[in-house]
Amino acid sequence: MSDPSASVPPAPSARPAPSNLSALPADFRWGVATAAYQIEGAAAEDGRSPSIWDTFSRTPGKVAGGDTGDVACDHYHRWREDIALMRELGVDSYRFSIAWPRVVPGGDGPVNERGLAFYDRLTDALLEAGITPFPTLYHWDLPQALQDRGGWPERETAEHFAAYASVVAERLGDRVKDWATLNEPLCSAWIGHLEGLMAPGLTDLTAAVRASYHLHLGHGLATAALRAAVPGARVGLVNNLTHCEPASDDEADVAAARRSDGHTNRWWMDPVHGRGYPQDMLDLYGVDLPERPGDLETIAAPLDWLGLNYYFRNVVADDPTGPLPRARQVPLPESHHTGMGWEVHPRGLTETLLRMTEDYGARCLYVTENGAAYPDTVGPDGQIDDPERARYLDQHLAACADAVAQGAPLAGYFAWSLLDNFEWAYGYDKRFGLVHVDYATQRRTVKGSGRRYADHVREHRRRARRAA
Ligand code: FCB
Repeated sequence: MSDPSASVPPAPSARPAPSNLSALPADFRWGVATAAYQIEGAAAEDGRSPSIWDTFSRTPGKVAGGDTGDVACDHYHRWREDIALMRELGVDSYRFSIAWPRVVPGGDGPVNERGLAFYDRLTDALLEAGITPFPTLYHWDLPQALQDRGGWPERETAEHFAAYASVVAERLGDRVKDWATLNEPLCSAWIGHLEGLMAPGLTDLTAAVRASYHLHLGHGLATAALRAAVPGARVGLVNNLTHCEPASDDEADVAAARRSDGHTNRWWMDPVHGRGYPQDMLDLYGVDLPERPGDLETIAAPLDWLGLNYYFRNVVADDPTGPLPRARQVPLPESHHTGMGWEVHPRGLTETLLRMTEDYGARCLYVTENGAAYPDTVGPDGQIDDPERARYLDQHLAACADAVAQGAPLAGYFAWSLLDNFEWAYGYDKRFGLVHVDYATQRRTVKGSGRRYADHVREHRRRARRAA
């Protein structure tokens, strides 16, 4: 197909592309990412039931400004326009999530045809536009009906997740081959059940550990369900891993960094790689796993690819009386930070990709999310010049290329996010989009960073064609 980005004028402030991008493979996938609750809106339409995020966002004090995903970017009605924007950016792949409460509103039981039909239309339109769909089955929007029966701390949730995966796979699997089961189970378990800062808002270690286990089990069961329903399925899992460093050489800080690594990385990677749960973390949590014979094999089903969502690194000091994992992030006043207060540290992306390759033997990796929030201003001409986000993008793409040059089997990159959207507990205040959304009018405007991304895509394809 013809290069759709050819029609986009280059970013006005175009700087030369990072010189190492030619290290990225010729068939590198260039994508953008979103998630259902963050963009769809239409919360009560066509049979969708409430999810735990509808409940959480309605709980006073949980989400900045009392924002909810009721309308969000109204993508449920504006998806055609959003696909046109993807074409404008020139991307060839789209990572989105499917809302379980649209498809199986009760969590288990009857399938909602109207909900399923939405993703059917979206899939067809993406394929027609030359864009490969990369759906994620669970990006945090558990049907509230299942939460009412205990949610992820209960085993039945994992089983219902696999049944829902089968329903979606049977409907879309003739056209969709690239599937992710879960997005960032760490956030579901630790932030949702231990820190209480995301839905369902619990602060209960036992519930958190049980949730993490059943998320893994759900991943394993859903992987089998996808493979049974979709010939040639390529199934992956998306984790938010990060590079953990001690703030000093002090033994206590070094031990804190190891705990932080266990809590953030090893707990989420070891079981899916057949290594079981790390003993040092089991000792630290002191919670019995609800394990049954055969579970660990189910959880460790070999993956076709691994997704990495990378935003920042962890530099930690010992915090013996602080919350688990008793490691406190230290301030890094010398570093640049985004509008989320997250440190910009592209080298951490290279290091994490290499670790997944070297320590876990990954054969195919995607950066499934990476991006930055900054307070954008709309200029008098209606345009959004966001050089900090464009620079963030440049630096992290260069970090990807460095990882590839050192042997990481990185097959693609998905910028977070296509659109400004509902940023969970931060509401609409934090904007990550390559495309600006005016929430009052739902008008979309490609930002300077979006044009910069289109430049990278176009330039990489041009070089790949020349080299062929
Ligand atoms: C990730 C989430 C994604 C988005 C980004 C900023 O943790 O997966 O939905 O909120 O952070």
